[in-house]
Amino acid sequence: MFITFEGPEGSGKTTQIQRLTTWLQKQGYAVLATREPGGTPIGDAVRAILLDKKNTAMTSRAEVLLFSAARAQLVEEVIKPFLEKGGIVLSDRFADSTFAYQGYGRGLNRDDLRRITAFATHSVWPNMTIYLDLPVEIGLRRKSNGATKEWNRMEEETLAYHRRVRDGYLALAAQEPKRWLLLDGTQGIDHIAAQIRQRVASALAES
Ligand code: TMP
Repeated sequence: MFITFEGPEGSGKTTQIQRLTTWLQKQGYAVLATREPGGTPIGDAVRAILLDKKNTAMTSRAEVLLFSAARAQLVEEVIKPFLEKGGIVLSDRFADSTFAYQGYGRGLNRDDLRRITAFATHSVWPNMTIYLDLPVEIGLRRKSNGATKEWNRMEEETLAYHRRVRDGYLALAAQEPKRWLLLDGTQGIDHIAAQIRQRVASALAES
């Protein structure tokens, strides 16, 4: 089973992935948690280019191809082999981030993004997407109070950009309500974790 986590900046995905990983492992499942962009040595090198604030000259088309290159490497090197062995893969972001950030955020053509994404993923697609929603101001404030403090190239984008991304996510979730679990990311960590566990448990029982 392939489960992805999506959300605007500071939505708490990383914490929830850690919680779910621990819980699933306790149930005896083989779990692999990864993140995008990154998750492989090549992907991590591409991530550094993508998030480097010095790269102000990066065009939207170059940006989407770099995110997609990191994704292609991650799918083939990590995700596909683990799924084929019957394991559960949890990913902190996946292709829906491209539709939200490069599609709704940057205004790139959706059909182009679909084609690029299908090529990059070999059509490996999540069975479930957990979306942690919250107002962008709250998420960005959480980030600036967090451990890293300094914003990266994407976080430095305007509030209007981040609002387009959030609206994009909500539109994507509405288009595919069966795949997406939409949760209020302003709720307490334990309460969110319980809702995620419940949904994942029922999906596993059905599979
Ligand atoms: P994060 O994983 O620490 O949130 O950082 C990744 C940043 O890259 C985040 O701002 C979202 C952005 N992003 C895209 O714009 N497109 C993508 O396809 C992916 C995977 C991430």
